[in-house]
Amino acid sequence: MKITMIGTGYVGLVTGTCLAEVGNDVLCVDVDARKIDVLASGGVPIHEPGLEAMIRRNVAAGRLHFTTDIDRAVGHATLQFIAVGTPPDDDGSADMQYVLQAARNIGRRMTQWTLVVDKSTVPVGTADRVHAAIAEELAARGVDIPYAVASNPEFLKEGAAIEDFMKPDRVVIGADNERAIAILRNIYGPFQRNRERLLVMDVRSAELTKYAANAMLATRISFMNELANLAEKLGADIEAVRQGIGSDPRIGWHFLYPGVGYGGSCFPKDVKALQFTAEHAGAPLKVLAAVEAANDTQKKVLVDKIVARFGNDLSQRRFAVWGLAFKPNTDDMREAPSRVVIEKLAQLGAIICAYDPVAMDEAKRVLGDIPRVTFAANPLAACDGADALVVVTEWKEFRSPDFETLQRRMKQPLIFDGRNLYEPDVVRAAGFEHVSIGRK
Ligand SMILES: NC(=O)c1ccc[n+]([C@@H]2O[C@H](COP(=O)([O-])OP(=O)(O)OC[C@H]3O[C@@H](n4cnc5c(N)ncnc54)[C@H](O)[C@@H]3O)[C@@H](O)[C@H]2O)c1
Repeated sequence: MKITMIGTGYVGLVTGTCLAEVGNDVLCVDVDARKIDVLASGGVPIHEPGLEAMIRRNVAAGRLHFTTDIDRAVGHATLQFIAVGTPPDDDGSADMQYVLQAARNIGRRMTQWTLVVDKSTVPVGTADRVHAAIAEELAARGVDIPYAVASNPEFLKEGAAIEDFMKPDRVVIGADNERAIAILRNIYGPFQRNRERLLVMDVRSAELTKYAANAMLATRISFMNELANLAEKLGADIEAVRQGIGSDPRIGWHFLYPGVGYGGSCFPKDVKALQFTAEHAGAPLKVLAAVEAANDTQKKVLVDKIVARFGNDLSQRRFAVWGLAFKPNTDDMREAPSRVVIEKLAQLGAIICAYDPVAMDEAKRVLGDIPRVTFAANPLAACDGADALVVVTEWKEFRSPDFETLQRRMKQPLIFDGRNLYEPDVVRAAGFEHVSIGRK
């Protein structure tokens, strides 16, 4: 089937590529000419495991194309996915300008029945707004062309996006149009061959489902972070508590790891946007205000521990920071906790040498102007002469360092372990002072 993917970011590029992988003819369009240039010249603008090879294969097979030409994009297919950004507006609501612009672009050019699918994370009621924007453009053209708008929120995780898309837990479709449902059922057929995973519901429920999922996950994270802080005060070990509650099938094992707070392009903005929606609907989600406040506090917890250890003046101190991306296996630095840690340490006068396996370019772009921040070519080099190692993102390659070498290269053997990556006993036996998040 011919498909147009509007927006070629983390979601649009992965979705478009995976749809091409199963045989569809996909045209990805973006207003960012730089991104399209990179793709057209064989590069990939983001880091996502497995994506580069899949893009290359599908471009070579003639099933995946990239353009900035909106006429071509709308003319390419009667199935148009909108996967543009929905960043937070000043008041916390989702900024809908890109989604509505994409809708208007379709309305200005479409010539036959078209299915428009909102894949971006959008507030409840957006499908109606997209419908209305297209209707206005058609009216302005003086034409009457039938079309349908459906919601199909995306649940992929950066770092495991290909796997998530190819083998989804569920595919949520919000639609009240039988033809739209049939098309989407057909498109997602190849990704659910062993069992049906399509959940068809009304549009508003589909739109709310995406926010509900992210808000629930953010809630678990903030709850575990607050519990970890409490465990420290009480002399309990959060790792034992995690095992004690995760083994309860009603709770389960996922998203129970305390750390330095959630970040990324989704949880922070989606928690805010859902609060805004709820407030305006007259049914405030009080729990989310606490989730957000707890997260803001948690992003500073490592710096608080560092200040408790060294005092407020860090001007004579050197810190190695391991892990800059907001989570492992991505180069995404949006709302990454590392940014708060590094900015705050720098404000206190610290000298910082940072390392990340893949997010270095992005990190230099967002952190490069901060005074006394440099970047190391490898994890050990970051630690040369450091007063402490600060672990912010739990990349696999940090899990089992050579503690002896580390100790030799650092000024003193001290680790602020923001992801509880190390067993306290093991690190202490290796001669290190170990400061964790809620471990005993
Ligand atoms: N990143 C994730 O892990 C993830 C997961 C699930 C859902 N989402 C949601 O998916 C949406 C996209 O997220 P993302 O991370 O891919 O964003 P992104 O910022 O990486 O990409 C969005 C792209 O849309 C392009 N764009 C903006 N307006 C356009 C227009 N009118 N026409 C064509 N292109 C346009 C931008 O230039 C950009 O390249 C958001 O609503 C997000 O909340 C993201």
